[in-house]
Amino acid sequence: MKVLITGGAGYIGTHCLVELMQAGLVPVVLDNLCNASPDALARVEQITGQQPIFIEGDIRDHRALELAFQAHRPSAVLHLAGLKSVGESVDKPLEYYDNNVVGTLQLLRTMREFDCHRMVFSSSATVYGDPATLPIAEDAPTGGTTNPYGTSKYVIERILQDWAAADSEAQVIALRYFNPVGAHASGLIGEDPQGLPNNLMPFIQRVASGSLERLNIFGDDYDTPDGTGVRDYLHVVDLAQGHLAALQRMEQPEAEGFHAVNLGTGNGISVLQMVKAFEAASGQAVPYSIAPRRPGDIASCFADARHAQEFLGWQARHTLESMCSDAWRWQQFAESRT
Ligand code: NAD
Ligand code: UFG
Repeated sequence: MKVLITGGAGYIGTHCLVELMQAGLVPVVLDNLCNASPDALARVEQITGQQPIFIEGDIRDHRALELAFQAHRPSAVLHLAGLKSVGESVDKPLEYYDNNVVGTLQLLRTMREFDCHRMVFSSSATVYGDPATLPIAEDAPTGGTTNPYGTSKYVIERILQDWAAADSEAQVIALRYFNPVGAHASGLIGEDPQGLPNNLMPFIQRVASGSLERLNIFGDDYDTPDGTGVRDYLHVVDLAQGHLAALQRMEQPEAEGFHAVNLGTGNGISVLQMVKAFEAASGQAVPYSIAPRRPGDIASCFADARHAQEFLGWQARHTLESMCSDAWRWQQFAESRT
């Protein structure tokens, strides 16, 4: 099966590529490289022994999409391309809606033109906003988003629901990721944000390596067991396997229509627990200070992971220890290149 992966050169995309190639599927990457480098694709080749098919192009460019569909006739799309920084989206809302929402519309138009009806979409737990109850199940209210990035994911989900309602052949699985972390066990691919990291795990990695001095923990007065924020961290290889499971599910009966599926472990981990786990896995100290709460943050967020098990036959398998040790191996590799 040929599968177009938009954003396939990025952090999650490269891990999806490895899992798909190892399962015998033929992925075709379309990426404009705004937050990725072709080096990552070369390292995917090192892991899999096969060169991924790569097209440099933008999902907002209808001609580029047409050429990709004409040349490869994919039977499904993994739609990962998007801008993803919460803070940046507040400063640049139009850029975020243009890239994420308009880009998705162009992609859907091209899929319709080429009779392609299957899409797996990178959604996010952010569509739940501040959840009223925990763990969060898929039927919890969505749309209480607090920033343009989150709203773009919510709006895209709504568009996909309408598209699926209008096309009886459409199959859409929106995967609502919780907090992807870690790296491939080879240490050859992982997340390497430019500049100061926004997210917890890449920040901890750089403090452990000594390239940043200390972690600021944003608040220790939340209503959580140790006062620090609680999230559902899941290993990026588990996440990538969730995409493979979604594609396989589309081959089975009753996959038509729009389905939202949480991808998380179901376990909440606090910032302090993550710091301790990373110190244990890396053997390095992670000095920290307690700082004020970060605006827009919620106290706790973790998944009800049962629907993923029932609908996709998927569950997260990697431990917190392997999330940390794989992230540490990747951090050391990433820093050895610079
Ligand atoms: P990433 O930035 O590493 O990957 C996104 C890729 O999309 C990059 O390679 C970038 O170059 C490409 N891209 C962006 N705009 C494009 C465009 N207009 N045309 C073509 N390519 C374009 O990010 P990631 O962490 O791998 O995230 C992948 C997807 O998962 C994103 O949609 C993101 O919003 C979503 N997501 C990520 C997280 C997370 O914590 N990493 C959580 C929830 C959802
Ligand atoms: N945190 C710190 N210090 C830091 C960074 C983060 O204490 O330097 C804390 C945050 O306050 C929060 C926790 O670590 O309690 C996790 O923060 P992240 O920024 O790593 O992740 P978020 O849960 O805020 O958001 C992430 C992605 C979003 C996505 C969401 C749900 O950044 O894009 O997960 O999938 F929508």
